[in-house]
Amino acid sequence: MQTIKTLIAAAAVAMVAVLGFAYSGTYDISADAPHSGFTKWLFSTTKHASVKRQASNIEVPDLSDEALILAGVNDFKGMCAECHGAPGQAAKAMAQGMNPAPPDLAEEVLELSAAELFWVTKHGIKMTGMPAWGVTHDDDTIWPVIAFITTLPELDATQYQEMLTRAGSLGHHADAAAHPDEAPQEPDQHDHSRHEH
Ligand code: HEC
Repeated sequence: MQTIKTLIAAAAVAMVAVLGFAYSGTYDISADAPHSGFTKWLFSTTKHASVKRQASNIEVPDLSDEALILAGVNDFKGMCAECHGAPGQAAKAMAQGMNPAPPDLAEEVLELSAAELFWVTKHGIKMTGMPAWGVTHDDDTIWPVIAFITTLPELDATQYQEMLTRAGSLGHHADAAAHPDEAPQEPDQHDHSRHEH
């Protein structure tokens, strides 16, 4: 009985401490302040375990199919490159101010399985700026992007441009990629010509 009382008292103290901290305003919420080592560890461990678990039942189609890869090139350019960059191209100014920073996908595809890449792309990651593309895209339009990004580690800037040319009008973002100024549904259509785009 005594132990239970002590535990309840300790939980109440912890709760008051958490609430006091939240309301105090002492936490630095700014995106340009780095996370502490502990926050980084906690977030990345939670994320990896969550993604791994939720992706475990996904059936992966044949991603080496060239038609699927080509169908994903324009979609990658229209949906991913402004945050993650592309071969020979840095991420846009917007993405360079994000915390956490969007990682280089050529490195991510070596770390994550195809099912995990698909899950992250479809569902996004809370509180990071990584969008849930499944809200606006069905699975059949997400798999081509996954097929394409798995080729990124081998792809240089020239080969990427060649693939864009070969892909022509394939993929649902083909027009947006070819005429970015005429695609109002994509973010950042303003003239920020002073910045790197
Ligand atoms: C608006 C910016 C933005 C766009 C657009 C975007 N991402 Fe991301 N993405 C992020 C950010 C930020 C992270 C880092 C999240 C983190 O550190 O947990 C991320 C992380 C990822 C990761 C790594 C996940 C992990 O487990 O660490 C993958 C894979 C990914 N994105 C794929 C994509 C693909 C594919 C597209 C296009 C279909 C895309 N992203 C479009 C911002 C973006």
